[in-house]
Amino acid sequence: MSETTQGGTSGGQTTPLNYSLSVNDIDYPVVADVGASLLSVLRNNIGLTGTKEGCDDCECGACMVLLDGRPVNSCSFLAAQAQNRTVSTVEGLAEAAGLHPLQQLLLDAGGVQCGFCTPGMLMSARALLDSNPQPTEDDIRIGLSGNLCRCTGYDSIVAAVQEAAVQLGDSAS
Ligand code: FES
Ligand code: FES
Repeated sequence: MSETTQGGTSGGQTTPLNYSLSVNDIDYPVVADVGASLLSVLRNNIGLTGTKEGCDDCECGACMVLLDGRPVNSCSFLAAQAQNRTVSTVEGLAEAAGLHPLQQLLLDAGGVQCGFCTPGMLMSARALLDSNPQPTEDDIRIGLSGNLCRCTGYDSIVAAVQEAAVQLGDSAS
């Protein structure tokens, strides 16, 4: 029998699904309801609480993670549909040498105040720079448009991403 079993209902009871998720290059076994969101499984089953729950309605971006390198709102994505794909969260962003340049520059620029938007903002910025290593300011504002920040006014965040693009470009050349 396959390790992944389909859940169902019996007498009004929901049978959990058993599967595994690859998160930050680690395979985690998961037992969760068929309707469990990726956000819920990351936080409550796997214990990776860096990804935040804000609106729980695909509006704020606090829950943003990367799925096969593309940003998704994990509050509105079924965890079971992330099987056989790669999930990246903020916990995987730091490097052996320390904080990822995006993290350090966001701190340096004052782009972290309450910090609630920060994990999602970082993941969207990461996806943006991976797909567009030399973004214009407009590219950055559009790339981060799914991430709401109540604290900073965005300018410091945009500046940090601009500087990260420069530093990452220099280190790649
Ligand atoms: S918590 Fe997912 S978009 Fe707001
Ligand atoms: S730093 Fe508070 S919401 Fe962005």
